[in-house]
Amino acid sequence: MTWTRKHLLDIESLTAEEITTILDTSRAFKEVGERPIKKVPALRGKTVVNLFIEPSTRTRVSFELAAHRLTADIINFTAEASSLRKGETLKDTAQTLEALNADMIIIRHGASGAPHFLARFLGASVINAGDGAHEHPTQALLDVFTIREHFNHIANLKVTIVGDILYSRVARSNIWALLKLGAQVTLCGPSTLVPKEFERLGCHLTHDLTEAIAEADVINLLRIQHERQNRTSFPNLGEYIRFFGLTKERLDQAKPEALIMHPGPINRGVEIDSQVADCDQSVILEQVTHGLAVRMAVLFLINGGKRPPGSFNLEK
Ligand code: CP
Repeated sequence: MTWTRKHLLDIESLTAEEITTILDTSRAFKEVGERPIKKVPALRGKTVVNLFIEPSTRTRVSFELAAHRLTADIINFTAEASSLRKGETLKDTAQTLEALNADMIIIRHGASGAPHFLARFLGASVINAGDGAHEHPTQALLDVFTIREHFNHIANLKVTIVGDILYSRVARSNIWALLKLGAQVTLCGPSTLVPKEFERLGCHLTHDLTEAIAEADVINLLRIQHERQNRTSFPNLGEYIRFFGLTKERLDQAKPEALIMHPGPINRGVEIDSQVADCDQSVILEQVTHGLAVRMAVLFLINGGKRPPGSFNLEK
């Protein structure tokens, strides 16, 4: 299919065909990353800005590397050292960056809807790198890409997401992507963090971790989003670990071939034990590696998906 979207704001509004196009393009960029020369001139002359108003390691660095690999100029905006500290608004900041000829603005912000807000008035393309508890589209894309690399398909796979679903933008984007591609999604966690509303999206809910992982092909663990919780959602951390922490003993009750995933950052000894995080079933670092290919694909497609003359071979 021909890519026509100017922005990547969420997964909810994408079709299964659009998601598949991103995954197929990511496959091609994964192959580019296995070449001796990993750089291609797809975004030569373009300027990309990483506008991160919230902390990030994986997303910020992989978008930066993706832009370098595509030969774009990349500016890393640091909120703490910016005029935001002097009272400048997000809108004025974004328009200032656009006045410096930014072609794409990648935004992470604590407020849900911040990328959609920028997209309303900017001429530049806007890419959502995580907005509040709303969505984190490129995380979900790299997660489904990783699953597809292992199983060659997504449809009918049983995917269990465990933890703080309520405050997780990763969970929301994953749920949309997985359901659109035909997976069966189970959500597990304390009832305060896995509210009934998610059933309406088509997910199965449970508060029993043993049940949740028994038949799962994929177990995706989430950290507790303390920075977004405005009330206590469970009695104490020890209680949470006792019921929802994935230990080796618990994992032994799951399928031996089940993939263990986590978007990171992981909290060892809380939602995941070190033995589980570092075991052979864990693909946590593979997810990070795939994040680069997926973000290259997203930048490439948002730029129109066109190859400059005399450029690289991106045929499948
Ligand atoms: N998964 C994720 O978004 O990690 P960062 O916060 O480090 O970017």
